Amino acid sequence: MGKGSGYGKTILFGEHFVVYGLPAIASALGSTTTAEVKRADINGYELIDNRPETAGYKEQKKEEYEKLIENVIKFMEVKEGIRITLGGNLVAASGVGASAACAAALARAINNEFRLDWNDDKINEAAFEGEKGPHGTPSGIDNTAAVFGGLLLFKKNLGGNQNTIKKMKLRKPVEIVLGNSGKTSSTKEVVGDVRRLEEEQPKKINAVFEEYGALVEEAKKALKDYDLKKVGTLMNKNHELLQKITVSSSELDEMVETARNAGALGAKLTGTGRGGLMIALTPGKNLQEKVAEAIEAQGYTVFRSKIGGS
Ligand code: MEV
Repeated sequence: MGKGSGYGKTILFGEHFVVYGLPAIASALGSTTTAEVKRADINGYELIDNRPETAGYKEQKKEEYEKLIENVIKFMEVKEGIRITLGGNLVAASGVGASAACAAALARAINNEFRLDWNDDKINEAAFEGEKGPHGTPSGIDNTAAVFGGLLLFKKNLGGNQNTIKKMKLRKPVEIVLGNSGKTSSTKEVVGDVRRLEEEQPKKINAVFEEYGALVEEAKKALKDYDLKKVGTLMNKNHELLQKITVSSSELDEMVETARNAGALGAKLTGTGRGGLMIALTPGKNLQEKVAEAIEAQGYTVFRSKIGGS
């Protein structure tokens, strides 16, 4: 039996802007999706999906995951029938890079079962192919975080050449809270809406892109200097820019506001938006707990995690 895993991720800066070639910063989460692949006397594949989920996620994403799995199988030229079992402690939800973690885990498990001896770069290519199922035109940030882990800066090469991937280091990992809106969103749809907005109002949207371009440079420096107060302030500003490109939602805004009022250094939506998750920067166990409880008191579920771990 072949085994593999892929990290969940949270985007600290730059979801959506990354699609347009601007740098983004993502951190892998401690939680992973695991895959087991066994050769079987069947046509194609069979899927047993044991991942924990936000209610309705798997049903809503069924077709997208079919495409994801077919894409990975095709790219890796698997000719035999396989039985795939997904598991792990990453909750399948919008905003944590669940599909990318699944694509990375599957690619690794196939690599293991068929002794292909692919390195991480090739695994990342396979995971990217998988991501085209749910995303259509993914930037590549989610699968890169799912495969390589850690904290990274990602910049898509719009000309189709190699993307820039730089490992970043935090002096020490920082506690975060992820608030779950409980709503599943479609990355393909939301990315498409931003594209339309950019076509309809190029001046306004390009001004937002420019503002983000300056912000992410400051964010790189603040993370390097471990200036968490500044990182938080920049996350707040990033959220405002995401609101301007219409990808937030009332639930996300409410959780962001609650987290800030409870003392988070900064908070923003993370990932696709319009549903899915928000992230709050909450250094220290006490602050993390305070913010988590404040969001829970509003009726949302939260995940307590850390960024900047290896
Ligand atoms: C989704 O996790 C991140 C987006 O920027 C899409 C992408 O980068 O492909 C919204």
